[in-house]
Amino acid sequence: MGDPKRGKIVSKFIKKNFRNVARILSVADGNFVLAKELYDEYKKDKKKRSISPSIVVIDPIITSINVKRMKGSEIAVYKKEFKADSDLECDLIVGLHPDSATGEIIDFAIRKRMQCVVIPCCILGKYGDEYSKQNNHCTLSGWIDILQRRLEKSNFQVSIIQLKFSGANYAIKAIPKK
Ligand SMILES: C[S@@+](CC[C@H](N)C(=O)[O-])C[C@H]1O[C@@H](n2cnc3c(N)ncnc32)[C@H](O)[C@@H]1O
Repeated sequence: MGDPKRGKIVSKFIKKNFRNVARILSVADGNFVLAKELYDEYKKDKKKRSISPSIVVIDPIITSINVKRMKGSEIAVYKKEFKADSDLECDLIVGLHPDSATGEIIDFAIRKRMQCVVIPCCILGKYGDEYSKQNNHCTLSGWIDILQRRLEKSNFQVSIIQLKFSGANYAIKAIPKK
């Protein structure tokens, strides 16, 4: 069970850093922990210093109760696995504790020259499985290093920011260099 504050804190971080995005793709967010907060966070900006982006969620596991909760809230939902070769459009891709979607998000960002924010947790999936196999003592910081290096090699400006919630709380923020 993750810190219940994580969705709100990540959404505030995203809004502070990305004011004018039209479409945010929130990967591995089948419980809407982040999408719901993102939606509220941008909507409540009454002074309209930022635009209200449309939010798209993609996750193979989405419960009907959550879909019901999202009705009318303008959050689009794709109930399927996300892959790096996805043709979904966005101008920011985010992943909060995206498990085996982590490496896919990073490779999608690299392929599309897309800004991204990823808060990794489990060391799984593309690059993660290989890292775990080759090392007896995998760490979250080692996993973040691998992802950071991959982005930097592809000419992204990368920052690692510790967010104020408990558990896996390091955000990788990556912006493609011109
Ligand atoms: C640890 S849960 C985190 C869920 C949510 N982001 C949160 O913070 O509570 C990991 C989620 O990743 C999803 N997931 C795993 N692989 C995925 C993939 N390739 N594409 C989309 N979602 C994926 C799972 O279905 C699950 O909902």
